[in-house]
Amino acid sequence: MSLYRRCVIPRITHLAMRQKQLLPFRQRVIGAAEGRVLEIGIGSGLNCPLYGNAVKWVIGLEPSSGLLRMARARAEAAPAPITLLDASAETIPLDGGSIDTIVSTWTLCTIPNAAQALAEMRRVLRPAGTLLFVEHGRASEPGVARWQDRLDPLWSRVSGGCHLNRKVDDLISGNGFRIEVLENAWLPGPRTHAFLYQGRASLA
Ligand SMILES: C[S@@+](CC[C@H](N)C(=O)[O-])C[C@H]1O[C@@H](n2cnc3c(N)ncnc32)[C@H](O)[C@@H]1O
Repeated sequence: MSLYRRCVIPRITHLAMRQKQLLPFRQRVIGAAEGRVLEIGIGSGLNCPLYGNAVKWVIGLEPSSGLLRMARARAEAAPAPITLLDASAETIPLDGGSIDTIVSTWTLCTIPNAAQALAEMRRVLRPAGTLLFVEHGRASEPGVARWQDRLDPLWSRVSGGCHLNRKVDDLISGNGFRIEVLENAWLPGPRTHAFLYQGRASLA
């Protein structure tokens, strides 16, 4: 792996993801988590302080060793017990039906095979479990979506694999989940990076 991917990308990811404007979205998602939680792509651990009493324990899965290092201190200081797991969402090393809540915050954009990751999430989630998500993705405005398609090949190379144009609701509902709540929002900032999908899904 290149030095850029190993050292620079984790730092850039942390700086981009700690923006204050993302906090209310994080609070909403994490505030709804309960029981045994699997956080997909925990990154530098920015959600760790937000887990509350309804959570029994959290497994924070993350394939980047640089980000896992950054997450460690936040996981140790968190109010809920958090175990970090060096793994990819495409092959989750957990038993089937063992998880009550899966959390994904701005991660489905980056997982190379997101459909395979969702199949794995489906496997590990218990039948009445919940997938909670906030993601950025394909904009509702056709003009912005066209720019996302144009920029995506370059952006995904410089950003460590983040895609601008994934249609998150179709991705989730096309891979075995039923979306129960979905809200879209625009963040301030570049329109190509600013269209959000926030919601909750259960097994279809
Ligand atoms: C934009 S960052 C978001 C980080 C974190 N979820 C947050 O909210 O700050 C995307 C995350 O997806 C992770 N990721 C990339 N490929 C992955 C995979 N195959 N499985 C799980 N996570 C992955 C990255 O390492 C990174 O932590």
